[in-house]
Amino acid sequence: MIVDLILAGIALYFLWLLLLAKPKSFPPGPVRFPVIGNIYHLRKWGPYLYQSMAEMKRRYGEVAGFFVGPNPIILVSGLEAIKELSFREDLSGRPSFFHHKLEKVKNGLLFTMGERWKEQRRFTLRHLRDFGFGKSSMESITIEEIEAVFSGIDKSLEGENSWSKPIVVHDILGTANINVIWHILAGKRYSLTDPLLNQLLNYVKDVIAQVEIGGKLEMAFPKLVELLPFLSNAWDSIEKREKVRNFIKKAIDEHKISIDYNSPRDFIDIYLAEMARRKEDPDSTFTDPQLTGIGFDLFGAGYDTTFNTIVFSLLYMILNPEVQKKVQEELDSVVGRDRLPSFQDRDSHRIPYTEATVMEILRCSTVVPMSVPHAPLYCSKDIEFRGHIIPKNSQIFLNLYDLHHDPAVWGDPENFRPERFLNQDGKVIRNEAFIPFGIGKRSCLGESLARNNVFLFFACLMQRYSMQKPDGEAPPSDEPVGNITIMPKPFKVQVMKRH
Ligand code: HEM
Repeated sequence: MIVDLILAGIALYFLWLLLLAKPKSFPPGPVRFPVIGNIYHLRKWGPYLYQSMAEMKRRYGEVAGFFVGPNPIILVSGLEAIKELSFREDLSGRPSFFHHKLEKVKNGLLFTMGERWKEQRRFTLRHLRDFGFGKSSMESITIEEIEAVFSGIDKSLEGENSWSKPIVVHDILGTANINVIWHILAGKRYSLTDPLLNQLLNYVKDVIAQVEIGGKLEMAFPKLVELLPFLSNAWDSIEKREKVRNFIKKAIDEHKISIDYNSPRDFIDIYLAEMARRKEDPDSTFTDPQLTGIGFDLFGAGYDTTFNTIVFSLLYMILNPEVQKKVQEELDSVVGRDRLPSFQDRDSHRIPYTEATVMEILRCSTVVPMSVPHAPLYCSKDIEFRGHIIPKNSQIFLNLYDLHHDPAVWGDPENFRPERFLNQDGKVIRNEAFIPFGIGKRSCLGESLARNNVFLFFACLMQRYSMQKPDGEAPPSDEPVGNITIMPKPFKVQVMKRH
């Protein structure tokens, strides 16, 4: 009897060791608990991923590894390691999420890889540029959107020289920047109050919030969630993804009816022309689902990130009124009040303080805090990185948020201080560690558009209005919430038109 108990104890001990075991040369990290992996640690170290990953880096260094259920996750922190990883071809893959498996579709740009991704990315970048991505021709379209936002704000003003009643910032901005993206894609704009577009954008926001990175249940126990769907919101997300895709498909169908192949109006037309050109090629990657996927990704990756950054910009201005005042003084003295600020003002470096403030907004907010997860290419073999093994089924997080808030790099990262991007002569300076759009092979495809949108919205709003926290209320928190993208908690401002 005693011998049986001892043998059972030994067997259990080895089973326990087996469950805790990590692959050979796996990066350092917390003890792997059986079944759940490190979900417990993630929760303990902070409700949001950017917080738990800061702690993970603090404890285990620049390349750390942990598990969510049985899935390995690698966290890469620090400029040198992030740079090295971002330029590695064999680490330029993307992981598969639970919804990819359920939907059985993987089109577009964000989650495709290899040759198909390269060809589609190259084509998309080239032709989005033709339609104004990052060019001054986009200025008038962006201004049209900004003026629509102005007229919404003006309605909430009570008098010429008085502060408005408190208004929720998220409501002021509405659907504004999506129209800029939609204009390039489909040559059309919607009214800011259009109910269909507003509903779609809410779907996009939900879909992004539901992406299963971090300690989500469907990532750790996909089989269990498939059996007990009420445990997860994945199905709700899939339904909303389908609705957004249907919206894009409808636009594509309308284009097919009215297209003139000799005179493309927008990106959809250009893509349809390329499809037609390659229709005899059985290996062509230019297909209807791929076009829908690109539209979906630009909608998803472009709207939420830019919107959140603009919301952050207003938060930082009410928390740092002295910065707001300096931006306004610079705009008044260089641009005046008779015209709106322009890309030219920024590109000729005539408004360096405003430019530096936009950079500081992007640094502090880092709205894609862990980047978009990378993976070994095709997820087909384990890969060596800085003396460690990255298992083939890993997700790789790039710790951008921590890099942008690292005291060793920035000195006082917790302070909102645009001067860190200016030299002694007041000229804008770059910092290698400032990479809100990622770098390397998979860096953000919409960077120039996003920079332009954020700059113009911010500068125009600052030129026209002063903003403050509601009188008598505590300052809003600047601690972001969210998952794959982050944003401020809803907060209110009072607005006054400047004269
Ligand atoms: C402030 C706004 C934005 C920020 C901070 C941002 C940031 C990022 C980051 C960090 C990545 C991942 C880089 C990597 O995997 O290494 C990314 C990827 C991407 N972004 Fe953005 N982004 C912004 C706006 C936009 C806009 C406006 C668009 C398009 C309309 C866009 C389209 C994309 C696409 C398609 C990818 C995937 C690229 C690929 O996998 O090849 N983004 N972005």
